[in-house]
Amino acid sequence: MACAFRRSIACQLSRILALPPESLIKSISAVPVSKKEEVADFQLSVDSLLEDNNHQSKLDTQDHARRLTEKLKCDTVVTAISAGPGTLNFKINRELLTKAVLQQVLEDGSKYGLKSELFSGLPQKRIVVEFSSPNVAKKFHVGHLRSTIIGNFIANLKEALGHQVTRINYIGDWGMQFGLLGTGFQLFGYEEKLHSNPLQHLFDVYVQVNKEATDDKNIAKLAHEFFHRLELGDMQALSLWQRFRDLSIEEYIQIYKRLGIYFDEYSGESFYREKSRDILKLLDSKGLLQKTITGNVVVDLSGTGDLSSVCTVMRSDGTSLYATRDLAAAIDRMDKYNFDTMIYVADKGQKRHFQQVFQILKIMGYEWAERCQHVPFGIVKGMKTRRGDVTFLEDVLNEVQSRMLQNMASIKTTKKMENPQETAERVGLAALIIQDFRGLLLSDYQFSWDRVFQSRGDTGVFLQYTHARLCSLEETFGCGYLNDVNVACLQEPQSVSILQHLLRFDEVLYKSSQDLQPKHIVSYLLTLSHLAAMAHKTLQVKDSPADVAGARLHLFKAVRSVLANGMKLLGIIPFYVPESLLCTEQIRKWQHTPRNGP
Ligand code: ARG
Repeated sequence: MACAFRRSIACQLSRILALPPESLIKSISAVPVSKKEEVADFQLSVDSLLEDNNHQSKLDTQDHARRLTEKLKCDTVVTAISAGPGTLNFKINRELLTKAVLQQVLEDGSKYGLKSELFSGLPQKRIVVEFSSPNVAKKFHVGHLRSTIIGNFIANLKEALGHQVTRINYIGDWGMQFGLLGTGFQLFGYEEKLHSNPLQHLFDVYVQVNKEATDDKNIAKLAHEFFHRLELGDMQALSLWQRFRDLSIEEYIQIYKRLGIYFDEYSGESFYREKSRDILKLLDSKGLLQKTITGNVVVDLSGTGDLSSVCTVMRSDGTSLYATRDLAAAIDRMDKYNFDTMIYVADKGQKRHFQQVFQILKIMGYEWAERCQHVPFGIVKGMKTRRGDVTFLEDVLNEVQSRMLQNMASIKTTKKMENPQETAERVGLAALIIQDFRGLLLSDYQFSWDRVFQSRGDTGVFLQYTHARLCSLEETFGCGYLNDVNVACLQEPQSVSILQHLLRFDEVLYKSSQDLQPKHIVSYLLTLSHLAAMAHKTLQVKDSPADVAGARLHLFKAVRSVLANGMKLLGIIPFYVPESLLCTEQIRKWQHTPRNGP
């Protein structure tokens, strides 16, 4: 398919350029479907050739392109070669293209695009992805939601590429806030509430004790003492803390289940209470610790010894800090998983923190510090539910569900849905994920429920709807007569556009695998859905001759399969819902999609 075509073009070029085909393959890309109808299928930037050849001047790229096209010849695969602005363009034999793409999509199934030559020679790696990592008792902020869905996407993608992935949730279950929480619970806590609604109750206690501590210095002192006892391993303090942790994680697991997300390991800062001490000893033995006038113990990162840039690793009372625990955790994970790459998905506000942790690891002599990577993301402002500010992930999920249910209820339908709650949640989550993944991860954005559900039709609802519509098409007409596809029946511009777009899936996956940005896949799937919408309108299945109907069904089946693959990578569970039940703004938009494309 795409690869065989790329190889075929690369072989031709290799002959006239005296370069090995392998070095050319990655420079040959499938042309994005545009509004113009007759475009080439593949192109190669002439600049990339000039660079490869160490040419200094790029002045004559156009001329160079023209000269190259004169030397190249069409064959059974390539039917037209032309020079564009700075590019060489290749058109593939239409029937061959149709046959190859459809066959490959069907054969490779969920691996379509991933078996591409673009990924060949990719060694299988051990990858740790740490994501979500909420803080017990503290507010669950949108940053945690982003970390959760982005981390899940990265883990899915890495796994799909054949790597061995370990998903870790590093819970914020240690630190001074547990001093406050322990003290607060002893003062205002209720056992029954802790059991029935742990996250909420711990949060309430935390808010109350924080308030009281500002007026009552004694509470702050008690909190300090409580955390100190925890750090020293006091059994009573630890057993209370253990219950906070266990009950919270139980609740987290239920919530992650709703999102379709799992972790291989629930770790947490608390795991590194003792190991932090070992790290401090190790740092000390390497002569890397210094005491400041306030009594804190720091590692000098300035490189000049003047303490102009330091990272505090121990408070004056001997307790550990966030960074100390991260050092211990990184070393522990290396021991345990011997990772090739470790990815931390956390908001961009933590950039400095991770830089410092990685730098200290390096100073300590761990060359693998370079295998650690922070994937930062931007801040989302203004995520509010109807009840007010978001406190828990669960609030967000409930809000998505209820808004989607309301959307669905506004549609008059005689059919009764079997599981409206689940449908609403699945479709709503898709909407939430797509709006979050549309831009660069690092960009900040203003959250808006309108944007989630209605922004110009390019939403997760639209993807789910397209998937549902294609499922119902397959269900209505069956796939019995799909075995032998008459490719001559798929030569209308709408079909060709879809085939050309399917041809590009591997490149899009490659791009996302390089920069870990989901937006490439998102815009690919939205375009695929728009193309499918147009084709669905013009390429009738019903009342068409058998070979035409069969070929079209085959094409739609391929679209559905690739759409589902892409959605799953993004962390969206493709849902099959009869289309009559999904009528929202998006569908009206779908029905009015202009003929000339997205
Ligand atoms: N719990 C932290 C927070 O909410 C995020 C943890 C990020 N990961 C890490 N290894 N430090 O801010």
